[in-house]
Amino acid sequence: MKIAMVGSGYVGLVSGACFADFGHDVVCIDKDQSKIDRLRDGVIPIYEPGLDALVEANVKARRLSFTTSLAEGIRGAGAIFIAVGTPSRRGDGHADLSFVYAVAKEVGQTLENDAVVVTKSTVPVGTGDEVERIIAASGCKHKVSVVSNPEFLREGAAIGDFKRPDRIVIGAEDEFGRETMREVYRPLFLNESPILFVSRRSSELIKYAANAFLATKITFINEMADLCEKVGANVQDVSRGIGMDNRIGSKFLHAGPGYGGSCFPKDTLALLKTAEDYDSPVRIVEAVVKVNESRKRAMGRKVIDALGGMDAARGKQVALLGLTFKPNTDDMRDSPAIAVAQTLADAGVTVKAYDPEGMELAAPLMPDVQMTTSSYEAIEGADAVVIVTEWDAFRALDLKRVKELAKAPLLVDLRNIYRSEDVRAAGFTYVSVGRD
Ligand code: UDX
Repeated sequence: MKIAMVGSGYVGLVSGACFADFGHDVVCIDKDQSKIDRLRDGVIPIYEPGLDALVEANVKARRLSFTTSLAEGIRGAGAIFIAVGTPSRRGDGHADLSFVYAVAKEVGQTLENDAVVVTKSTVPVGTGDEVERIIAASGCKHKVSVVSNPEFLREGAAIGDFKRPDRIVIGAEDEFGRETMREVYRPLFLNESPILFVSRRSSELIKYAANAFLATKITFINEMADLCEKVGANVQDVSRGIGMDNRIGSKFLHAGPGYGGSCFPKDTLALLKTAEDYDSPVRIVEAVVKVNESRKRAMGRKVIDALGGMDAARGKQVALLGLTFKPNTDDMRDSPAIAVAQTLADAGVTVKAYDPEGMELAAPLMPDVQMTTSSYEAIEGADAVVIVTEWDAFRALDLKRVKELAKAPLLVDLRNIYRSEDVRAAGFTYVSVGRD
């Protein structure tokens, strides 16, 4: 089948490359000429493990191509995916759907055959109805079915998540839509990945409900971690102990500096807006958003406390290791490191930082931070070493060397990646999250 992917950002590019790898004929479309030029030259604009090789192989096999022309890209396509951005709208937190609607209009105006139009972007409940209305109003003469098919890709693991999903959710209102989507995902059926057919509105809500639930799990364990510190319990044991109950599940129970990234912060806010619009409050999610927001700065204060309080911290120097919102990505969106660094800088602490992939995107977001080129350069002369993101490179620091380079042997591990015995045996004061 020919598939058109409108929007060659993170989701569009990963999905397009994976569909091509399934054997479909895929055209990725983007308005950004320089992005398309670079993709044609084999330059991948984002950091995602395995994506460059996947793109290269499928371009070579002539199953994957790139264009800036929507009309040309969708010609003959049986499924047209809308995978453009839906950022939080400035001021009110609503998802900004202007890009989605602009694509719907252009598809309606230029379509030359029957097709299924699929919203892949995360869109609020009811967006599919509006896309359908826009396409009809644009004078489209062909049969069009609008389907919702949310993605559940994690950055850094996106290709694996795409090819071996826990489930595929399809929100379709008619048989044309369902049949086309069965064809699109046939290779995954054969893999026995469960596919769930639901109504379009249910599908749209599933995406938000899933992300809000995961954000809730993280925030829950983060508050338990605070309580563990007060009562002298160990949050990792608590996580294990509750996670072995199948009804709870062991994943997403790692305490840390709060969630960030391109999905959880934006999607929880958008869900609050939908709930407000329909006058059906989701108070748990309201609390999650507030608690997570305050947690990021609280982690900066935790470092200040470890340095001996506000007065003692002023003028001291801290090495921040890891800036991205999680490892294996260069994504800095809503990363807790930004708030941690700001809190430290506001308290008069000098911050030197290092991240394996995030430096370029981090620098403009953290004007008060001095960027370095290695962990050890950041650590030199530091009064505290703070691990903010659990990159593998920070799991095996040479503690002897760290101790020699740093001014004081203080390790603040906001991701609990070290065993306290080991760090203390190496002569450090060790502060972690929700445990001794
Ligand atoms: C998430 C969802 O997992 C994915 O299904 C959805 O499509 C997009 O949003 P992503 O944002 O790439 O994916 O990252 P994820 O691995 O889920 O982590 C999100 C944030 O939560 C990170 O900041 C991470 O550090 C944090 N996190 C995650 C925790 O603090 N503890 C955990 O136990 C898990």
